[in-house]
Amino acid sequence: MARSIAVANQKGGVAKTTTVHNLGYALAKKNARVLLVDLDPQGCLTYSVGIDPDSLKVSVHDIFVRRAKAADVKVAIESDDPRMTLDILPANIDLAGSEVYLLTRTGREHVLSRALKPLAEEYDFVLIDCPPSLGVLTINGLSAANEVIVPMQCETLSHRGVGQLLEILEDVKTFANPHLKVRGVIATMYDGRTRHAREMLESLGTRYGLEVLDPPVHKSIRFAESPSKGVSIHQHAPVSPGARAYAAIAEQLMKG
Ligand SMILES: Nc1ncnc2c1ncn2[C@@H]1O[C@H](COP(=O)(O)OP(=O)(O)OP(=O)(O)O)[C@@H](O)[C@H]1O
Ligand SMILES: [Mg+2]
Repeated sequence: MARSIAVANQKGGVAKTTTVHNLGYALAKKNARVLLVDLDPQGCLTYSVGIDPDSLKVSVHDIFVRRAKAADVKVAIESDDPRMTLDILPANIDLAGSEVYLLTRTGREHVLSRALKPLAEEYDFVLIDCPPSLGVLTINGLSAANEVIVPMQCETLSHRGVGQLLEILEDVKTFANPHLKVRGVIATMYDGRTRHAREMLESLGTRYGLEVLDPPVHKSIRFAESPSKGVSIHQHAPVSPGARAYAAIAEQLMKG
């Protein structure tokens, strides 16, 4: 039975997509069977793994609107090792239309969850990249997940944003998915030299009771370089601190 993890934060640009891609790749390298799900109409995850979002014949949009089977939408991601199982349900701008369509449908929160069920035995992990909003697509991602990981850029974090996100997670638990657990926060683009960043990190535990997954992912230009090449940091800069950080987090997740 796949463990499904939504990566969510309504704040934009905190490394949700980067985390899904690089954590997914790291898990697959450790022999886990991994499915990535792009829930963002911007299609950044799809692009980052080397697929042109504009050339897709079928995408996540078809799952939401045309009841396409997830098995017919998934695509294999190219990797260094043919033994790796790493697939994606890709997305493009069509997904923006799903949002409008879903608003009129009963049971709209559960469409993704239902679509993923037939694939549950094929994968060990399903990682869901949520868009930077708390709309119906993110709610679908959270409803389809057992766990949620929240990437946060500690420098710019506002406590109000965290509180708002935790409220939504409580709502999803109450109304759509009682099994959802907050697995923890990943500190991204971390600059441990600033006192502010260190204090932020500490306050997440004391103030909100959130676990911070170790280690923090430090700021590195390597992360900005790899998406345009269509590869993960593990392929682009395998011995970089960033690659090692995501590999260490993957290891921790595999333990439970
Ligand atoms: N550790 C890091 N160091 C430096 N740059 C990073 C790091 N992680 C991610 N980035 C860069 O920051 C930018 C935003 O990252 P990303 O797209 O993953 O965020 P996001 O939360 O998915 O954004 P959105 O909310 O728009 O979906 C990208 O250009 C990415 O390459
Ligand atoms: Mg993103």
